[in-house]
Formats: sequence, C-alpha cells, structure tokens
Amino acid sequence: MDEHIERVLIDTQEIKTIVARLGDEITAHYRALETFDLIVVGLLRGSFVFAADLVRVINLPLIMDFMTVSSYGDETASTGNVKVVMDLDESIEGKDVLMVEDIIDTGNTFAKVLRLMHHRRPRTLKICTFLNKPSRRLVDVPIDFCGRTIEDEFVCGYGLDFAQRYRNLPYVGVLSREVLEG
Ligand code: IMP
Ligand code: MG
Repeated sequence: MDEHIERVLIDTQEIKTIVARLGDEITAHYRALETFDLIVVGLLRGSFVFAADLVRVINLPLIMDFMTVSSYGDETASTGNVKVVMDLDESIEGKDVLMVEDIIDTGNTFAKVLRLMHHRRPRTLKICTFLNKPSRRLVDVPIDFCGRTIEDEFVCGYGLDFAQRYRNLPYVGVLSREVLEG
C-alpha cells in the first residue's frame, strides 16, 4: 500500500503533537465558558480517525455523534451538491456543537453542512479541522481550530481517502501521480 505514497507529509509523531495542541485549545475554549453542553459531531467517513484521537485529548464531559454526508463530484474534488446520508441521532438544539472534519478544501461540503446545522439552533457552533487547504477555497468557512495548513496537494491517510482507500495509513502522505492519474 505504501508504495502508492510518494512522500510522507505529516508523520505519526507530528500528528500526535497537532492533536494534543488542538485538545488543549478546545479544552481551554469550553472551560472559559460559564456553562457548556458539548456535543462533538464527526463527519464520516473521513474524520473517524481524527475524531477518535481528538476526543481523547479533550478533557471535558462531552457526547459524540456522527453524520455522513455525500458530496458529489469526482474523486478528488467536491461540487457542493451535498446530501445527508446518515443524520445525527442527537438533537443539537441549545447544545454547544463542535464539528470535526478531516480536511477543508473548497469549503463546498462544509458550508452546506454548516447551514443545515445552524437551522437546528445549537447554542454555539465551532469547527475543528485536522487539515486546511486555503489555496483551494471557493466558499468561506469559519475555522475555529485548525490542525495544519497544507499546500494544494492530494493527501491520504489518517482517515483521508482516495476512492475509499488508504484511510488506515498511520500518517498523512502525498499520493503518487500514477495512482491519482489512474
Ligand atoms: P470540500 O467540499 O472541497 O471542502 O471537500 C471536503 C472533502 O473533500 C473532505 O471531507 C474530503 O473527504 C475530501 N478531500 C478534499 N481534499 C482531500 C485530500 O487532499 N485528500 C482526501 N480527501 C480530500
Ligand atoms: Mg473523502
């Protein structure tokens, strides 16, 4: 599998450092509020690895929920045609919602998801993304907690896929040109 990876962009140790820092930032943010009722929402499938690591370094009471949205486009770019495939189990009304995403690229997917979430009237809504590709942004997305900004390269691993594969790599790598171009 690793033969398809051209280069490691973020190794396992760096991932750990990033996640620990985010955990501290998030913990401090909610602690500073007078009261909070935290619900962490992971967007599937991409955020499952990151969300699992992240909640273990958030030192606060919280509940966890997941949502699957499908975003139509080709294998490496979304179009903003977002459909909820699996909705949340929990009501988020009046709750402090922390959305967890693997990567924000064009912003198309997340902008739609955010609008949907706002309609459900959470008390607060914050966004945490492991990776951010600002150079590709088409729609503005307010990011509250960001793991790392990366260049315009297609990456895989640590939950991120190419055609559903490579999610289980324990690092973030740049996929080789041969794989990307088929
Ligand atoms: P957006 O709507 O363009 O922001 O796309 C967000 C989604 O596209 C992410 O949740 C990922 O599933 C996928 N995506 C964007 N860039 C990458 C990448 O470099 N590797 C893997 N998936 C990506
Ligand atoms: Mg994906």
